Amino acid sequence: MRLAKFLADAGIASRRKAEKLIDEGRVKVNGIKVIEQGYKIDSNIDKVEFDNQVVQKEEKKYIVLYKPGGYISSVYDPQGRPTVRELVTGINLRLYPVGRLDFDTEGILLLTNDGDFTNLMIHPRYEIKKKYEALVEGHAEKADIDNLRKGIMLDDGMTAPANVQIIKSIGNNMLLGMEIHEGRKRQVKRMCAAVNHPVISLKRTAFAFLTLKGLSPGEYRYLTSREVEELKKLAIHR
Ligand code: URA
Repeated sequence: MRLAKFLADAGIASRRKAEKLIDEGRVKVNGIKVIEQGYKIDSNIDKVEFDNQVVQKEEKKYIVLYKPGGYISSVYDPQGRPTVRELVTGINLRLYPVGRLDFDTEGILLLTNDGDFTNLMIHPRYEIKKKYEALVEGHAEKADIDNLRKGIMLDDGMTAPANVQIIKSIGNNMLLGMEIHEGRKRQVKRMCAAVNHPVISLKRTAFAFLTLKGLSPGEYRYLTSREVEELKKLAIHR
C-alpha cells in the first residue's frame, strides 16, 4: 500500500495532505525518513511514524452531525472558535469534516477518518447532491429563480444547473429550497447574493439521501455500514 494512503486510512490527513506531510519530511518508515511519494509499505510489518509518533491502523468511523450555527467546520481553529470536532465526544480518533459548512450555517455535516470516503463525497466529479434551505432577503421573482436554476456567473465561473423552489414567504423575506451538487466556497450565499437576495440564514437539510431526521442541533449519530456503502456507490457509479 502507498504510504500516503496508509496515512490517510489511519486518519492522519486526506491523501493529498498526507503527500504534503511526506514532502515535508514528517514521516518515517522503520525509523528512516521517507520523502518518496510512491513509497510502498506493508502495513502488517512496517512501522510508520508521523512527527515521531507511531501511526496505528484505525478503524473507520462515519458520523452524521447536526451542526449548529456558531461552530467552525474544522478540527482546530487558530482563532479559538468552537469546532465541530468538539461536538463529537467520547471518540478518541482524528475525525475530519467531509467538506465544510460556514461558521453560521447549520445542518447536516459528515465527519470521518476515512480519507478515501471524504474524497468521494467532496470531489465535484461525483456530483453528490446537497439540499439547503436559505432564508433570503426580499421576495425572489420568477426570473431570479430561473437564473438560479440555470446557473449563475460567479467570480470562479458558472454554477451548474440547480433545483430551486420557493418554500414560502416569511414577512418581507423568502425561504428558498436549493439542491446543488457542487461544493464551492460559500456557494449558496454567493448565488443568492448574485440575484440580489442575500442569505439571512442557511441550513443544509440533506447530504445525498441522508437527512437530519432524529437529530437536534449539536447531536450526531454513526452511519450504518449500509449507509456508508450506499454513499460510496452513489459516487463510484457516476
Ligand atoms: N453554501 C454556503 O454559502 N455556505 C455553506 O455553508 C454551504 C453552502
